[in-house]
Amino acid sequence: GLVNTREMFKRAINGGYAIPAFNFNNMEQLQAIITASSKLKSPVILQVSKGARNYANQTLLRYMAQGAVEYAKELGCNHPEIALHLDHGDSFELCKSCVDMGFSSVMIDGSSLPYEENIALTKKVVEYAHQFDVTVEGELGVLAGVEDEVVAEESHYTRPEEVIDFTKRTGVDSLAISIGTSHGAYKFKPEQCTRDPKTGVLVPPPLAFDILDDIMKELPGFPIVLHGSSSVPQEYVDMINSTGGKLPDAVGIPEEQLRKAAKSAVCKINIDSDSRLAFTAAVRKVFAENPGEFDPRKYCGPARDLMIELYEHKIKEVLGSDNKL
Ligand code: G3H
Ligand code: 13P
Ligand code: ZN
Repeated sequence: GLVNTREMFKRAINGGYAIPAFNFNNMEQLQAIITASSKLKSPVILQVSKGARNYANQTLLRYMAQGAVEYAKELGCNHPEIALHLDHGDSFELCKSCVDMGFSSVMIDGSSLPYEENIALTKKVVEYAHQFDVTVEGELGVLAGVEDEVVAEESHYTRPEEVIDFTKRTGVDSLAISIGTSHGAYKFKPEQCTRDPKTGVLVPPPLAFDILDDIMKELPGFPIVLHGSSSVPQEYVDMINSTGGKLPDAVGIPEEQLRKAAKSAVCKINIDSDSRLAFTAAVRKVFAENPGEFDPRKYCGPARDLMIELYEHKIKEVLGSDNKL
């Protein structure tokens, strides 16, 4: 069955790699995630956001994820490690509903609340979830940009001086931090970046690795989570823009920095936007080349193939979670 994240994280920290946390909203994304992670023998976290629940229905998503464990075995992965995780839970009731329904892990994101309220809410979720051996991710620090329908008015980095108190008092199993990443395909404004003189492509400022270092000094060996970790591959942006799409100056986190983070106590790296870009790029290409196509399998199939390629690349070349089962 589904597993929680405790053992995955322990091994990932000791082994210097990170577990991929991929969001899914539909069957093709799930098939691609399971195909890639099974082939490469990688543990994987399937993430469901509040938006995904509203789009695809929590019950359907839960059975799809449970079915994915059987699917992985069919694909030749004898001992799959798959967690089903609520991404950015914003209330006790939502987290409880996911725990009650068989999710193996939940996130309670109180990062936009005042510090003491974040602690109280997170602690309440931990106390409930731990009764059922469900692991809990909390968050300190506010990511810039849009976080599940809530637009952060003011982002701020995680304060290293708060992390011991927060993790001790809440009992969370992992901590999401803010060190310069953000959600979506526009992680930095053009004026925050430099421009590659040859290609004109934006080069973003580096993440605040000094803050990550300070956090790890406070919490040696504690599982750290990085949200907003899509790299926004230029080839997908180009495919989209050259087939009538409009994603000007989309920019993500360079993979080199994610590779560096994965070697540290960062043991869960969240990626959603890159999968959306791959899906959209592949669908656009089919329609550009064959405007008469109207069988969804003929455009969702290529989208699935491109997402498999993307997930394999992330697992093998960026997070290093291959051959870890
Ligand atoms: O937190 C952001 C994730 O990419 C989920 O996005 O809320 O649009 O499903 P969503
Ligand atoms: P991206 O938008 O960078 O893919 O981040 C996803 C995420 O953090 C989901 O929680
Ligand atoms: Zn996130």
